[in-house]
Amino acid sequence: MLKNDLLLRAARGEYTERTPVWLMRQAGRILPEYRALRAKLSGFKELVETPELAAEVTIQPVDALDVDAAIIFSDILVVPEAMGLTYEMLEARGPLFPETIKTAHDVARMRIADPEEHLGYVLEAIRVTKRALNGRVPLIGFAGAPWTILAYMVEGHGSKTFSKARRMLYTNPELAHELLRKITATTIAYLQAQVAAGANIIQVFDSWAGILPPNHYREFSSRYIAEICNALPDVPVTVFAKGAYFAIPEFATFNCRTIGLDWNEDPRAVRAAIGDEKTLQGNLDPCALYGTREQVQQATIEMLRRFGPQRHIANLGHGVYPDTDADNVRVFIDTVKEFSPMAREGNL
Ligand code: CP3
Repeated sequence: MLKNDLLLRAARGEYTERTPVWLMRQAGRILPEYRALRAKLSGFKELVETPELAAEVTIQPVDALDVDAAIIFSDILVVPEAMGLTYEMLEARGPLFPETIKTAHDVARMRIADPEEHLGYVLEAIRVTKRALNGRVPLIGFAGAPWTILAYMVEGHGSKTFSKARRMLYTNPELAHELLRKITATTIAYLQAQVAAGANIIQVFDSWAGILPPNHYREFSSRYIAEICNALPDVPVTVFAKGAYFAIPEFATFNCRTIGLDWNEDPRAVRAAIGDEKTLQGNLDPCALYGTREQVQQATIEMLRRFGPQRHIANLGHGVYPDTDADNVRVFIDTVKEFSPMAREGNL
């Protein structure tokens, strides 16, 4: 049914005639058509909560950049909102939760959300997108990892240290687990509903993985990600835990197909450490796209060499920065398409 299923084949570990490519945050401010639509609206939330508009911006990068996948336009912060904690998206400043989680009473007030009732707008956006895509490319569904969601719910906004959230892990670990269990239950039901609505592959974003020490990461994050993977047996799952290089051997034992690497990680070293079971995704430094055309091409070829020709989904090591020139994004994509077939013949 899919006209281009490269991404799914790569995720399943099957042969691909070239390396599939998409970018985290491909829908957004790098595209003039996104900025034009966004300028007409009250804000980010209107875009996320109106299924026809969310579907439109989901498909924009497929049209404009010719990527091998669409990712549903939404945010990881819809999950805390569905549980009872409303967020605001401040222009040029990022997310803000006017109320935060501090006490057992606050955690008790959070509900395990019902996907259709509390996140129906995302599920409807997936259905509308699937109809409009008409099988052109797979659709990626996603959610934040429970630890990253807790970090925002406790901290209330982005932070360099997330010290309020990390403090809770030391001062009230039981309360943290109580909240993590509720987030995990909500996330599992939500992701299963995304798959039922048409998502072909799921990515779990643990954006704040790298601020935890390894023992806390195992206790408060990776075990909940493992639960999420186990609850999605019929769909490929990608685990992307930014900065958690120490957890990659553990992810290799999870029921996931793909492990996302940020730009600090060396794909060759990861391959040597975990073997050939998993597909790897990543990992060009988003700042490499600030270079000249030739520099972008060289950096992309070097990335392809480091991953090798199979079991690789080309991407950046994190989301594309909003001030990136869309032409350089195209050079990245075109280079993957042009040069990755050469790697199959050993000519790269
Ligand atoms: O194209 C895509 O990747 C799909 C859309 C997507 C968004 N957010 C849209 C968005 C995805 C996958 C996310 C996930 C997300 N949201 C993460 C995990 C990935 C990561 O970057 O680590 C996180 C941590 C968030 C929380 C969040 N949302 C922050 C910190 C911000 C502000 C920073 C910024 O870029 O402005 C957002 C806002 C946001 N989410 C925007 C977009 C397109 C920009 C808002 C705008 O258009 O005004």
